[in-house]
Parts: sequence; C-alpha cells; structure tokens
Amino acid sequence: MKINPAKRIRGKLKLPGDKSISHRAAIFSAIAEGETEIENFSTASDCVSTLNCLKNMSVEIRHENTNVFVKGVGKTGFQKPAKELDCGNSGTTARLLAGVLAGQNFDSVLTGDESLTKRPMRRIIEPLELMGANIESENGCAPLHIFGKNPVNAIAYDLPVASAQVKSCVLLAGLNADGKTSILERIPTRDHTERMFEWLGVKVEKLQTENGLEISVSGDAKLEAKNLQIPSDISSAAFFMVAAACLPNSELTLENTGLNSTRAAIIEVLQNFGAEIEIINRKQICNEPVGDLRVRGSENLTPKISSNILSGEIIANLIDEIPILAVFGTQIENGLEIRDAGELRVKESDRISAVVKNLKKMGAKVEEFPDGFRIEKSVLKGAQVESFGDHRIAMAFAVAALFAAGETEISGAEAAEVSFPEFFQTLSKIVE
Ligand code: S3P
Repeated sequence: MKINPAKRIRGKLKLPGDKSISHRAAIFSAIAEGETEIENFSTASDCVSTLNCLKNMSVEIRHENTNVFVKGVGKTGFQKPAKELDCGNSGTTARLLAGVLAGQNFDSVLTGDESLTKRPMRRIIEPLELMGANIESENGCAPLHIFGKNPVNAIAYDLPVASAQVKSCVLLAGLNADGKTSILERIPTRDHTERMFEWLGVKVEKLQTENGLEISVSGDAKLEAKNLQIPSDISSAAFFMVAAACLPNSELTLENTGLNSTRAAIIEVLQNFGAEIEIINRKQICNEPVGDLRVRGSENLTPKISSNILSGEIIANLIDEIPILAVFGTQIENGLEIRDAGELRVKESDRISAVVKNLKKMGAKVEEFPDGFRIEKSVLKGAQVESFGDHRIAMAFAVAALFAAGETEISGAEAAEVSFPEFFQTLSKIVE
C-alpha cells in the first residue's frame, strides 16, 4: 500500500462495530437461551473467526450485511466440534472460547495462525486448570487441547496480568461452575463482559476492596437472548482522531463511537496533549455509553499537562491505541514517553519493536525500553515500512504517512483486515 502526504481530513463517518464487544455479543448470544439479533456487528476478520468457531460447535448463525442472527444453545448445548477450532489471528476468540470450553463435557482443540500460536496462553491455562479443566498446550501456547468438565470448580482468582481476556475467560468458565467464581482485578481493564452479562440478565457482583475490584458470577446464572446493538469501535476511531487532530483545518465527525470509560482514555490523552476533540450526543446503547466525536485539526499541538510520560494504570485503558499514540508523539511539543507497556511485546506482533523500527525508518528520534519507548517531536519522511503482520501497525503507519514528506510504502498492509477491512478505503474518502 502506497500512501502520500495529506493536507487535511474532512468528513463524517460511522465506523464498523467494536471488535471486543462483537466477540462477546457472538459468544454470549450463543450461550443464551433464544434467538438474538446483533446490529452493527464488527466487520473484523477476528470476529468472523469467532462466528466460525461457534458454527463448528453447531450454533446456527446467519449474517445479513452487518446484522448477525444467532440461535442460542444455552450454556452447555454445544456439540463437540468435528475439527480443530481455528481462531485465526484472534487472541480474544481463543481466550474467551477457552473459558466456555472448559465447562463442556467434551474435549476440543483451539488453534490459530502463526502469530496466535506464539502468544502466551498460560495466563488462561492456570486458572482453568484450577477450575478442574485439563489443558494440553505447546509450551504454554496454542494449539490448546481442552478436556472440559461440567460443572467446573468455582474459584477465587487474583488476576496476575491486567487482561480483560483472562478476566472474561474465567468469568465465562464461572457460568458453568459449582458455585460463585470471583476475580480480583487490581488494575481496571475493559469491562464489556460484565456490562453485557448484566444486560443479558446475569447478576455480576462487584466489590471494591483495598486491593482492587472483586467481580463475581454464579454458576447457576442464565443468559436471556436479547437484541444487541454494537457501538462503533473507538480503537478504530483512534487512527482517524489522530490524523484529523494533527492536520490543520481538518474537521471530522465520528458518529456513534463507543465511550466506555475503560476504553476511552485515548480521548483524554489526545486532549491533554492539545488535540481539539468534542463529544456530543451522548447516550447509552445496550449498557454501553456512546457519542459522536468532533475532531478539529490544530496548527500547533501544545500540551496542557506538564508530564509527557504515560505509565501505570492508564496503560491498560490505552493498550490497543499505543501504536497510533506513538505516531501522535512525533507531532507534539516535547514528544511522548510510554512506560509499563511490556504487554505490547506479546500482542499480534511485538508492537514496541515494530513501532520503533518503523518510526526510525521514517526519520523519527526514538529510544526503545523493555516496557515502552520515548519519541521526540520529529519531521517524518516517507519510507518503506512493514506491518509485521499486525493490523494496528499497518493502520498507525498509514496515518504516519499522511504527516510525512514523500510517499510511504507499507508492506503487509492487508493485515488491517483483522480489525478493520474497510480502513484504507475509508481513509481515502476523508483525506484531502
Ligand atoms: C481485548 C483485550 C485486550 C486487547 C485486545 C482485546 C478484549 O487484550 O488488547 O485487543 O476484547 O478483551 P488483553 O486482555 O490481553 O490485554
């Protein structure tokens, strides 16, 4: 993909449905009792992986454009899959489905592509084995052979990593447990699972303790089938927010964007560093806050805060936006430093290394740390960069290319399909 510099961004967009929420909508409506219509389902190939895995366990699913109809089979109504369940590139598919499969009376295998089969799975194997499932892995990685049992043992689990995928895996397994399963979450992570459980009639107990939030579900909870509408994906919106904020005279509206407070730190961070973003038409859909974002481009992005270091708890809230924040860092006074983000090394690619390599090729001054990087304000030049097979790296560097002098070529840009197949087409519509 070749991308040329841009003068400004103009337009109004309603982006596809949120990827995280769409995975949950598909899985939860499959374990619900009755039929569900899901509106504005994500177009991400990751979410197609989730639908295909569910179909391979005999769940009836029908697609009409971006509406998906799922016939729920109840918590234990799945059929043993005839073959391995292929999660493609999707960590969320593998980790959430592992929680469901742990509580089934059959064995199954979860696998995925080259990237997914290198990502850490001990973080889910450990709690699921404490619950009584037996899991064989390749040194802690997929393929995972899950020998389920029903019911599993209810546990109280202190989450060792700040991960919504691990939290959701254990809570899903907890729906098939012989009592109350609790999680201690020390650092807040995205809470779409808890919100959707509540929307579908599952009681979720939340207790703030001095060590963090205790979240519990009961093994006898049932999910009601209830229609679901998915907000537009804030993580996809982030690429356009940065593009519009950094190009003077830009004006962009991103309608119906998810504003869940465990996902929305990107907005406040961009505002703190001088971006002009306004939120209007706030409302709730299916227990998730949404609104329209109005972004205006600024001549000079001047930070409103004294520190240019992002570290600590906020990182979990920004985790998927860090590649595009790194690009933003090249455009702001004093640059940007990211710390406590070691998890980025075990995402779809090693995102710390990918960002540093590509930014250096574009002429930015960057320093790499084990848990992050420091980026100076830099004049970018067009270069040959790589996606490293990672959707968010492909899209972040498409935006960097808009700010650079000369043409940029991104190899492996098709990786964008994993979360946002229409990304390049959408970008070309709003770029001037
Ligand atoms: C996700 C949680 C995050 C995020 C991923 C989606 C989810 O991963 O990076 O893109 O839908 O629960 P971790 O839970 O591993 O941090």
